Amino acid sequence: MTIIMKKLLLFLFVALTLMSCGKSGGEKGTFEAGDKTFLLNGKPFLVKAAEIHYSRIPKEYWENRIQLCKALGMNTLCIYIFWNYHEMEEGKFDFEGNKDIAEFCRLAQKNGMYIIVRPGPYVCAEWEMGGLPWWLLKNDSIQLRTLDTDYMTHVEKFMAEVGKQLSPLQITKGGNIIMVQVENEYGSYGTDKPYVSAIRDIVRKSGFNEVPLFQCDWSSNFTNNALDDLLWTVNFGTGSDIDAQFKKLKELRPNTPLMCSEFWSGWFDHWGRPHETRPADVMVSGLKEMLDKNISFSLYMTHGGTTFGFWGGANNPAYSAMCSSYDYDAPISENGQVTPKYTLLRDMMKNYLQEGETLADIPAQIKAVSVPEFKLTEMAGVFDNLPVPIESADIKPMEKFNQGWGSILYRKTLDSDFKKGSEIKITEVHDYALVFVNGNKIAELDRRKGEFSFQLKDDLKKGDVLDIYIEALGRVNFDKSIHDRKGITESVSIAGNDLKNWQVYLLPLDYQFALNRKYSPVQTTDKPAYYKGEFTLTKAEDTFLDFSTWGKGFVWVNGFALGRIWEIGPQQTLYMPGCWLKEGKNEIVVLDILGAKEPKVQGLEQPILDRLRVAVPQTHRKDGEKLDLSNEQPIVSGELKNVATPQVIDLGKPVSGRYLCIEALDNFTGDNITSLAEVDALDKNGKLINRKDWSINYADSEETRSGEYTADKLYDLQESTYWQTVDNVAFPHAVVIDLGKRETIKAIRIIPRQEKGNPGLIKNYKVYVSDTAFLK
Ligand code: GLA
Repeated sequence: MTIIMKKLLLFLFVALTLMSCGKSGGEKGTFEAGDKTFLLNGKPFLVKAAEIHYSRIPKEYWENRIQLCKALGMNTLCIYIFWNYHEMEEGKFDFEGNKDIAEFCRLAQKNGMYIIVRPGPYVCAEWEMGGLPWWLLKNDSIQLRTLDTDYMTHVEKFMAEVGKQLSPLQITKGGNIIMVQVENEYGSYGTDKPYVSAIRDIVRKSGFNEVPLFQCDWSSNFTNNALDDLLWTVNFGTGSDIDAQFKKLKELRPNTPLMCSEFWSGWFDHWGRPHETRPADVMVSGLKEMLDKNISFSLYMTHGGTTFGFWGGANNPAYSAMCSSYDYDAPISENGQVTPKYTLLRDMMKNYLQEGETLADIPAQIKAVSVPEFKLTEMAGVFDNLPVPIESADIKPMEKFNQGWGSILYRKTLDSDFKKGSEIKITEVHDYALVFVNGNKIAELDRRKGEFSFQLKDDLKKGDVLDIYIEALGRVNFDKSIHDRKGITESVSIAGNDLKNWQVYLLPLDYQFALNRKYSPVQTTDKPAYYKGEFTLTKAEDTFLDFSTWGKGFVWVNGFALGRIWEIGPQQTLYMPGCWLKEGKNEIVVLDILGAKEPKVQGLEQPILDRLRVAVPQTHRKDGEKLDLSNEQPIVSGELKNVATPQVIDLGKPVSGRYLCIEALDNFTGDNITSLAEVDALDKNGKLINRKDWSINYADSEETRSGEYTADKLYDLQESTYWQTVDNVAFPHAVVIDLGKRETIKAIRIIPRQEKGNPGLIKNYKVYVSDTAFLK
């Protein structure tokens, strides 16, 4: 090739690259809220957004997943920015590789997609601590998501970094960012306009001042923190009554463009609870209705992906950690496959293309293959490989020892005897405890079940070595419980005696730490151990690694942190992206805190996400248990209104008690069903009482065949999940909530289930409050 030809080819290459960029962006534009519609470059525009998370997809697959969203007929991607993912250590920001958010936005632009950015600082998203960095909890008195100075100083620094990365990509500057969200569903956390205003100002100051800013909330609470100069959008799930969701917003702002900023396509999975799904046809008809009514939307999730590593969050109460898969029953499956939901949605969406939009072809799907079974042959017992301990007079959580994730071992040589039957009390186990005496396991305690104490089966002697090994699971990502410190949070006592002077061993969830243990051939054990092995591949392709013969722990392959495993399910496999594998030898390291039954793994073509292997009490009524209200006087009785909005039942006077019972005598639909989305108690000043210690004492009936409609959904802070009784049990129905302690209540507030016609909404009710649980 001559030099001239080479130069010509180079010129052509550069010209073509520039043209292809110019096609989908590069030119400056505008995005605004007009009269009942958004305006893109001055023309009406409906936002059809797909929510996907860059951190839940390997970077190598970003473009494939973006193209899958585009081929659904979407025109925008909606992304959270996960603060703790970018500032894992205080002051050290990382926006490289899988964390390169600007690159993600540019890829979207190259593929003709706009971006909505949701930089938090709090994001929820079933992500560890809702996206907030754990190291904030080193400060004992920090008040997260308030005007607390320490918190706000860090927020400002983080947001400035996000601004540096993304503000040059606003549409006005030739990028593709059209909107930016301020905070996230703050109404579910509190009422604090000064705080939300301060976050808005920080977002603006970090450079997002050329596109509309918005805040998202539920229809029932969006006015609590609504700022006059922000756009308001509403979040709700598949099946919701869409007109009812926007009713109030339309009244308050008749000319605002309407947008559902999170329309939940499916739902997320917890360890130890049934796999969640939502019907495809109901999701599609909801989206169709919005398109017909000129309502913009973001489909959360369009592709959920995987919560790799230790990034999974947890809900509370009751504490319940998230699975590693974030498949979400979304239209695009965890490993990027087109599902029947996808096909149905695409068929509908193709009829709603706007001027200039075309339906893109579905890109080639990256298929998962099977991998023959292989064994992990080496092992390093955690107790045989302990690091140097730290002496600590008091029990402290792991944050105080500057550790973010992993396990922590508290060891004490007893200085007195304790009798069999004495109570060992651990306040509190966050999140899973293994207790040993002289190396023998004597108890396992699970925070999910509220297990914080047990009775000694044998005497303990002075000189015995007590080991309390605590594994931390995800930090709570919801409500005030985001102040979720790990390890043992306060104290350990035996028979009421506080134990002091501990040796503390830090066991971080760190690949190098795991590798640097002393390995020897595998043996059977019931103690925490690292396992190591190799497997050889002729081709590096996606697969699902099957851990159904393991106990509980964490997996790395070739140094990539894949995620958590737990035999109880429902998830039994971990998604293994082919782009993290190698042709030839691959290395796997597994930490199993219970000891593997069989340390072997195979790769499957399909995931196992729905094999629950634990008998969980799904309902809140023991055999033979009967509610006895015969001697009880209701505090108040009455009739609810047949509306979807929250309703307050005034008790007339402040009433004290630990147990709150709501009895439903009939409903508006004329069938057997009672259904409610949320219940709150208000104190004499009309303030919501914290629900963090609530539990269900009794529910006469709970539907668990067609979904998870248990009574604990009444206080899970999710309007789209609800308590529902089965259809063949007649009225009256009743639920008893244990408030955790004696409370003084002046009113209760209920939120009906958010579907059309308020299905199962109670008509006539009675409310009781008592210090005893009404049960016989
Ligand atoms: C809320 C939050 C999201 C996510 C969903 C449930 O709407 O805003 O971050 O947690 O619930 O998946």
